Formats: sequence, C-alpha cells, structure tokens
Amino acid sequence: MSNPASFWTQANALLRKNLTYQKRDVKTNVRLVLFPVILVVLLYALQTAVDIVQSASLQDEKKTKAAACKGCVCVHDIGRHAKCPDSEKVCGPRFLGPEDANTCPVPYPPEWPPLLQLEVGDGLFSNDAARNVTMLFTGTDQFFGESLFGTMFPTELSINESDIMASLASVVLGTEFGLDLTVFVDPALSINSRILYRLQQDQCKVNSSFSFNFNEGDSKMIPDVKVNCTQAFTLWRKSFSDIWDELQLEDRDDDKIGYYKLHKNPISGAFDFLNSNKNIFNVSFLIYKHDNRDKINMNRTPRSVNMISNAFLKFLLGNGTKMLFDFIGEMPKPASSDTTMIDITSLLGGLFYTWVILQLFPVILISLVYEKQHKIRMMMKMHGLGDGPYWLISYAYFLAISMAYMLCFVLMGSFFGFHFFRENNYGIQFVFYFIYVNLQIASAFLVAALFSNVKPATVTAYIVVFGTGLVAAFLFPDLLKNDLFPKKWIIVIEFYPGFALFRGLNEFAEYVSVGNSSGTLGMRWQDLNDSTNGMKQILIIMSIEWIVFLFVAYYLDQVSSSASGRSPFFFLKGFQKKTPLSSQNDNMPMQGSRALAQMDKPDVIQEREKVEELLLEPAGNHRIVCNELRKVYQGRDGNPDKVAVRGLFLAVPQGECFGMLGPNGAGKTSFISMMIGLTKPTSGTAFVQGMDIRTDMNGLYTSMGVCPQHNLLWERLTGREHLLFYGRLKNLKGSALTQAVEESLKSLNLFNGGVADKQAGKYSGGMKRRLSVAISLIGNPNVVYMDEPSTGLDPASRKRLWDVIKTAKKDRAIILTTHSMEEAEALCDRLGIFVDGSLQCIGNSKELKARYGGTYVLTMTTPWEHEKEVENMVRLLCPNANKIYHISGTQKFELPKGEVRIADVFGAVDFAKRNFTVSAWGLTDTTMEDVFIKVARGDPHSQNLS
Ligand SMILES: *[C@@H]1O[C@H](CO)[C@@H](O)[C@H](O)[C@H]1NC(C)=O
Ligand SMILES: *[C@@H]1O[C@H](CO)[C@@H](O)[C@H](O)[C@H]1NC(C)=O
Ligand SMILES: *[C@@H]1O[C@H](CO)[C@@H](O)[C@H](O)[C@H]1NC(C)=O
Repeated sequence: MSNPASFWTQANALLRKNLTYQKRDVKTNVRLVLFPVILVVLLYALQTAVDIVQSASLQDEKKTKAAACKGCVCVHDIGRHAKCPDSEKVCGPRFLGPEDANTCPVPYPPEWPPLLQLEVGDGLFSNDAARNVTMLFTGTDQFFGESLFGTMFPTELSINESDIMASLASVVLGTEFGLDLTVFVDPALSINSRILYRLQQDQCKVNSSFSFNFNEGDSKMIPDVKVNCTQAFTLWRKSFSDIWDELQLEDRDDDKIGYYKLHKNPISGAFDFLNSNKNIFNVSFLIYKHDNRDKINMNRTPRSVNMISNAFLKFLLGNGTKMLFDFIGEMPKPASSDTTMIDITSLLGGLFYTWVILQLFPVILISLVYEKQHKIRMMMKMHGLGDGPYWLISYAYFLAISMAYMLCFVLMGSFFGFHFFRENNYGIQFVFYFIYVNLQIASAFLVAALFSNVKPATVTAYIVVFGTGLVAAFLFPDLLKNDLFPKKWIIVIEFYPGFALFRGLNEFAEYVSVGNSSGTLGMRWQDLNDSTNGMKQILIIMSIEWIVFLFVAYYLDQVSSSASGRSPFFFLKGFQKKTPLSSQNDNMPMQGSRALAQMDKPDVIQEREKVEELLLEPAGNHRIVCNELRKVYQGRDGNPDKVAVRGLFLAVPQGECFGMLGPNGAGKTSFISMMIGLTKPTSGTAFVQGMDIRTDMNGLYTSMGVCPQHNLLWERLTGREHLLFYGRLKNLKGSALTQAVEESLKSLNLFNGGVADKQAGKYSGGMKRRLSVAISLIGNPNVVYMDEPSTGLDPASRKRLWDVIKTAKKDRAIILTTHSMEEAEALCDRLGIFVDGSLQCIGNSKELKARYGGTYVLTMTTPWEHEKEVENMVRLLCPNANKIYHISGTQKFELPKGEVRIADVFGAVDFAKRNFTVSAWGLTDTTMEDVFIKVARGDPHSQNLS
C-alpha cells in the first residue's frame, strides 16, 4: 500500500477536480460574474434617462428665471464699495426678501450698516417712541466699566449727505427686526421694516430723526429708511449672576422673551467687564436673541464687539480715536438652481451596490451546504481528503470568484464613468472590497455549519441579503447623521458585516458627493485620518471579524461534522485524561442479559472470544476488529431510546469478504456508518488496522474505500475524472495513476464505447453503480465497505462486478451488505445474519446451512381432496416431519436429515403417484434463503437442531 497523500497532493487533487468541474460549469460562472455588469448597465441607462428629463426641466427653469429677472433691480447700485461698470450690470434680487437671493446671481452683494438687535419686532417698540433701551453691565472695576459705557453711544450725529454710509458708521444703529439665516439684504432694510434706531447716551430731542437712502444711482427703486433716536440706559449690577437672575426671573413671567417686567425699558444686552482695566481688555457679553430659535444669529454680534472695542480704544487713546465699522455684506455668488441634478448612481448606489456585493453570500453558502447535504464532502473525506486541503481549495476558489466578480463590477462602473468608482482611490477600494469579500466567505463558512439542507439555507440567505440592504439603506444613514445617536452603538452595529459594507459604500458615496479635505472629489488615503470618515474603523472591524469568523467556522465544522467525531471541546483533548477501559462498562446489567441471550449461539460466542484474544495479542492479518460496538439513538419526543447495534464483536482478516445479511432496519447501515465515520459509536469501538475509529478516523480515511448505498457522483465529471480525483487522493501519481484508472475502467466494463469520458450525469443507474464500486477500490485501500453494491445491475454486469470484487478481496478486508443471497454465497467467505441490532449467527454459507437447515424440504402439489393422504404418507416416512406451508393442495414439509433417506422419499412418492394424482413434487436441500428467513424470524426450533 502507498503512503497517505500529503496535504499538497490532496489540495492538488481537489484543485484539479474543481477546475475541471468549473470549466464544465462555465455558464453558471459567467452568469454570476455578468450580474454586476448587467446592473451597472441598468444604472447607466437609468441615469441617462433621468439626465435627459432633468436637463429639459432645467431649460424651462432658466427661461422662467430670465422672465422673472426683468423687474429685478441691479444689485451693484447699493452700497459704496461694490461698484460695477455699467457693462456688467446683471439682474439681481430685489429688496423683497431672501428668497430671490437663493437663485439669482449676486456678483456685487449689497452692503448695509451693522445693526444691534433690540427687541423682536411686532410693532411694540416702534409704536412707542418713548421707550428706550436698557443695557446692563458689571465687572470688578465699576469705575472702569462706567467710563467705557460713557463713550459707547455717541450723542453727536453729523450726516454727510454725499457719504451716508460713512456718517452712519460713527453711530450705533439698532433694529427690532429679526434676522434670517442667510440673506443678501438685511431684512431690517427690506420693504416691510424701514425704521432703524440710533442709540444715544442722552435723552433724545423729539425731532431727532432723519431719513436716508441707500441707493446712489437709481434711487427711485428703494424707499427711504427712517432713523429714529432712542436713549440707551446703562445700569450697573454687582455681578454677572445678578444680571443672570434678573433675566431668568422675569423671563418666566412673560412669554415674550427679552421683555423684562422689572424694567420699564427692554433690555437689549449685558456686558461683563470681568477683570478688565486699562491694561487688560477682557469682556464677555450677552446679546439679544431675536426669537426662540436655537441658533443665535451671529450677524448681529459684530456690532457689539465693535462697540465695546471702540469704547476701549477711546478710553485708552482719548475721545478723538475712532474705530469705524462701515458695513456688512455677504460673499458674491453665482446663480444657483433650485433643483440639483439627481445623481442616480450615488443616490441608489448605496442600496444597489450593497445588494450586488451581498449577492455572493448566498452563492457561496448554497455551494457549501449543497456539498454537505449531498454528502459529497463526506464522500471525499472518506476517501482521504483532509479538512485542511478542503478548506484551502474551497476558500481559494470562492475568493477567486469573488475577486473576479468585484473586479468586473469596479471595471464596468469605471468604464461607464460612475463617479463612485472613478473618483475614489482605487487602492482604498481594493483594500475595502478585498477585506469584505474575505469576511463574506468566512461568514458563509460559518453560517454553512448551521445548515444541513440547501432549501432553508437558500431562503434564509436571500432574506438576509435583501433585508440587510433595505434595513441598512433606510435606517443606517439616519443613525449616522443623528448626532444624538451614540457613536459606540454605530460601531456595535457595524459588527454585522452587511452594515459594515453599507457604511463603507456610504463613505465612498459621501466623498464623491461632498468632496474630500483637499477640495476634490473622492476618498484619498490621507482622508482615512478624517475623524468623520468611518472607513478606517470599518476596515479594522472587518479584518478582526474575518479572522475570528474563520476560526469559529473551522471550529463549528469540526464539531458538527460527525465524521471526525469530535466533541465540542476537542481542542482540550490534550488535557483530558484517558478514560480507563473499565469505566466504559456503564451498562453492566445489559451485558449480563446479553451474555445470557448469546449463550445458545456458540458461533457468536466463538467470534467474541476471538476478538478478546485479538485484543490481547493482535495478530497482524486481522484488518477489522469490532469490540462490543454499540449504537443507541436517543429517543425523541418521549419515545424510548432506539438501540441500533447492541454490542457487536467481529473480526475480519485480510483476504476475507464478510457478508452482512439482515432484514431492513436490523442495524446494518448503522454499523457501516460507524465504521466509515459517519456516526460515532455510543460505546465500544472498532480497530481498523490497529487504529481506533473513535479517535483515528482521519488517519483511517486514507486507506479506506467506501461504496455507499446511494451513488455520490458529480453529474458533470466523467467516470475517468472521478477515478483520477479519488486516485490522486489515494496518493497515486503519474503513470501509476493512469494505469490504475485504465484497469479499473476496463475491469468494470466502463471503458468501451467512450463511457469513460461521458459525464456521469448521463450514465445509467447500473453504470453509476459500477463507477461507485470502482471508486471504492481505486488506490488499493486496505479496507473496503460496500453497501449493497449490486443493486440495479443487470445479470451480466453483476457477474462482472462479482469477478472484480473476488479479485479485489485477495489483499483486502471487505465488509459487504446485500439482500441477495446469491451474491452473499458467491462473494463472501463468511456471513453474519444481523437481526435487531445483534449478530444471530456467523459462519460460511455451508456451516450456516448445515446448522440451521438440517432438513430437506418436501413440496408436493395434489388435488385438495388428497391432502390428508399426502400428510399421512409423510408422517409414515418420518414421524418428526414438520408442515411449514399449506395452501389449496400444495404442502411443504421439513424432514430432519438424520431421520430420512432420500431413496425412501422417492419410493414413497412413486407409491403415492400410483394412488392419486400428483401434479408436482420436489425435494430440496435448505437454501441460504431458508436459513435467512428462519434466523430473521428468530425461530427457536432451529436452535435444537444445531
Ligand atoms: C462728505 O463726504 C465726501 C465724500 O467722501 C467728502 O469729500 C467730504 O469732504 C465730506 N464732507 C464733510 C463735511 O466731511
Ligand atoms: C478673563 O476673565 C475670565 C473670567 O473671569 C478669566 O478666567 C480669565 O483668566 C480672564 N483673562 C485674562 C487674560 O485675564
Ligand atoms: C494622520 O494623522 C496623524 C496624527 O494626527 C499623522 O501623524 C499622520 O501622518 C496622518 N496620516 C496621514 C496619512 O495623513
């Protein structure tokens, strides 16, 4: 026998087989890889269609805008600094409100004086000219504070008619009008509110109001702005907390924020000079919040800052010092469209791309579960394929297919110009996809351990794929945007691979639509540093998971595949103490009763003694030794446990073919299953070539051949390819392999007429059966198990098969189960009849026949009225005769061999023929069939005869 195949030999065998298989299955593979292509083309078509529709509506929009622009005022007429030549006059927003500013181009934004927020404008302030403004202040140095406040609101006002804006800069103007977020014109200057307040320290003269106009050119377009005088009171408070309390308290009584009942005049702000003095300028201030919105409008802040800084400068350098605040204006901007172009590829991308990539998961899972369900993996394992090579090659295959799939996806996407693929750095994309597909394969291996049937696996996988995509696309982005959602929960969510995938794709999409730190589109390596970029985090999570999943999957695979028969704690094996043999006899009472039951089966007892002898001093030529092998299936739903095999003792030497007979359900299959490693014995064990099937099964596979009851073949591989694969697993190489395959094909009549190179899917039942037998014998296994090898064969093929088995058994031990007595007699050196979990008898066919069939069977058919006479005749011939069968004139009798002579029987029949009509008669020796029926029936009578 050759050495067991090495890891790489096995991997090579599997790889070659898979390559051949995939080549045959090329259509399926191409279809799979084409899926992303089709999707990309579909998205492209959709995008093109949307673009066409959108550009049409954009044209319309431009037209309406042009029409609307007719009445617009030219914005560069407003303010002093932003002056444009007449040739560049463009249509801009009217002073109607910010809405127009959103869409119109504003190349020269208007300038307006910085305003202080007073009270919210509901007319209250403006209708009551007598009401003034209160400002609170505090600080460590009251004198200093008062001196600053004294110069804050200048009393004198000189209007230079030719430069209104410059004149206004030297005074403090306030408004009661609230400010919107982004505007190109301060609403305080809009049509609706054209009154400003000039704050001054002293009491106002009644007539101290004036009007002015912003427009320098076309002044008719905008009405005058009226500026009223109002007095600003400044009140000292001891500390800022006093001010705070004051504001808080009053706020509670009045639903109008900013109006404080305690004060006759509305408070428009508070200053805290802190530790300021002439060397330190350290001020904090409260500005009036114009309404209940969360955001304080910062556009009103600069006025306060300038006011206080100006006062400080004046304090330091004298009253002549001025730091003027001329105007506020926004940045110029081009016309913008209300409707932004829809980018389908980025919009639907997240969901579609997630689906496309997740699509591989069911493919891998189904393939794995299929091999498991159809016991293909087990079949390969039984012929010596180790778990290592299986994992390596399967993993490599799935990785190759996944990478091809992803490559196709990215290339097609780039080819069609999708920004998603083109703008993001290809290196990051590669790393991300590579890690993800690996994680996906590892998860498929992991999940495959939980399924044993393809259908539920398929359904589950597809539900998971579509569910994940939908849940991720509709919930995850909201969670990401929600600042209140804890970031650590996002990480927890990302531990689910589908969501991690979605997050990654989402990041790519974000970088394409928003841009990166350097202002261009797409993600760059340095953007991984970005704190808002989840990519780095995802890559780390996925890499860790990949490794963990692989280990867990391998672990589950070892535990769940009963083949290796490992306990869930197999990796602790080294720590466990070897259980002493005596402790296994946990069922002593059973043993006792069985011993009793076997008392009267000397052949079975003899076999047991042989086994015990062999265990003590092993003799080299006994390939299989079963020592009290026992299998109990646990009863489910309250049913009692079912004992399938009750303590079997059996020794099969080299060169013997042991036939196992027995009615259906006797436990033959359970026995074979234990021997080939499909299930684990409940107690007892068997030694095959000295190796224990409980612990060394993996070592045994390399020298074992199995022909299972149901053919386990690949439809798309030819007979020759099957044999080549299994031959390689058995470490046959080069010419030895070719020769072995040729011989095998020829001997089983699979060679002629091109049968060898036909795909197994096209074989007839008999051909498949012969191929299965050929597989079990290739590579000279020392031990071969054949479960009903000849079922479904025509007589000629069967004869041929027998010849092969007869030749093969010379240097092997074969255990064979069959229902054909003819086959059993033709092939087997010894037979055992297995009933209800135990051997009832054991021996070669002649011994068995002699032991159980010590009788002749006389059959005689007569008209029914002569039945009695026939019976009388037999009784006369042999008083102990036993009638075993009787129906309408046909009777069967058993005649103990010791009591009759055949000549007497012939004489008696001759005599009978003369007296009445005998239509037929016969005298036979016992057949195996009779023995079988007798033993299977458990006929106690037969025991006496042995
Ligand atoms: C008024 O402003 C104009 C333009 O800046 C300037 O030339 C003129 O001197 C100013 N008049 C006074 C009185 O400051
Ligand atoms: C400004 O005032 C704050 C609050 O009293 C104080 O913590 C800080 O040190 C001051 N800054 C300076 C430069 O004195
Ligand atoms: C990322 O940031 C760290 C420190 O914040 C810096 O040292 C490193 O160079 C950055 N990496 C890249 C690629 O910008």
